[in-house]
Amino acid sequence: MDSAIRSRITGVGSYVPPRVVTNQELTEYMDTSDEWIVERTGIHTRHWVDPETSTSDLALEAAQRALAAAGVDGPDLDMIMLATLSPDHQFPGTACFLQAKMALPGVPALDVRQQCSGFIYAMAIADQFIRAGTYQKVLIAGAEVHSKGLELSTRGRDVSVLFGDGAGAVVVEAAQVTDPEREPHVFSTHLHADGTFAKELWLGAPGMGYVGPYVNEGAFERGEQYPQMNGRTVFVHAVKHMAESVMEALDANGVELEDVELFFFHQANQRISEAAAHRLGIPGDKVFNTIDRFGNTTAASIPIGLDCAVQAGKLQPGMLVACAAFGSGFTWCSLLLRW
Ligand code: COA
Repeated sequence: MDSAIRSRITGVGSYVPPRVVTNQELTEYMDTSDEWIVERTGIHTRHWVDPETSTSDLALEAAQRALAAAGVDGPDLDMIMLATLSPDHQFPGTACFLQAKMALPGVPALDVRQQCSGFIYAMAIADQFIRAGTYQKVLIAGAEVHSKGLELSTRGRDVSVLFGDGAGAVVVEAAQVTDPEREPHVFSTHLHADGTFAKELWLGAPGMGYVGPYVNEGAFERGEQYPQMNGRTVFVHAVKHMAESVMEALDANGVELEDVELFFFHQANQRISEAAAHRLGIPGDKVFNTIDRFGNTTAASIPIGLDCAVQAGKLQPGMLVACAAFGSGFTWCSLLLRW
């Protein structure tokens, strides 16, 4: 049998900060209710950092757990990537801050800024480096600190109730695969974007896109330093594109929907996951959800889901797994792998 170099996830880890924020607590900051949030989103709690903690701090915790699970030492990594929409600072990239905290001078550090699709975009990049034979061991972290940037008032309630802080990470390694039917490896990634929807879910300020200075007073008065979202448009496109992404992955690999044992959809909203599952005609118990506990953790949501599924004993070696994400950009993508 022929053998080929493929990438394989050899370790996964996740970390959420200890502070649990209930829907009830949010009612102290804005006009909302536990009932509204649970009914519209499925979210019961999310985690928030303390003031001292940054995105790269969360990524570091998750990365250390993923490395331990893989049995890989940091200095053996060929590359690290960090997917986030909530960078420590405007520049340099947050992957550089993570790399410094991991004490890995010289290792390439790349930020991936595709928001909720960031983890799968990073997986695609790692997969290509590994298939090409350039790198053997790549760390990918998805990490977000949303809580410091949310508008905690009634004006911002449509967005602020959705998002939570957290991080997930994987170690991806090169593997010689001779039997793709059985051996763990990444089958494919498929990536898409449509920038005509860029301002349907975005954070404008501060930014060079403004007429005038980067720190634009008018933008702050309008609250453009907070995420803005057209929730209904996002909802409709998320369901459509995540379902289509799954089918694209299956068609490309000659795999039947029934063969997939576990699905991980980006955790935007429980109703989006349910609608995508319904559109595909897959049973709800094949979709692994964490939104009830963590809210939307953007680039962290899929690796957090993978780690929680491993810990819950739901994700077992050899399982065929399909992941799909959708987010700001708009961007959407899929990842098909044998675990
Ligand atoms: N608490 C209470 N009321 C709220 C609220 C909140 N947190 N947020 C919005 N509302 C109000 C609105 O002001 C509106 O009031 P009105 O009828 O008086 O104008 C009402 O609830 C209904 O708002 P609407 O936007 O129509 O609700 P919805 O059913 O579309 O649900 C979302 C809103 C945000 C939950 C939903 O659109 C959604 O999940 N969209 C996708 C968001 C997402 O996943 N984003 C991240 C993608 S990666």
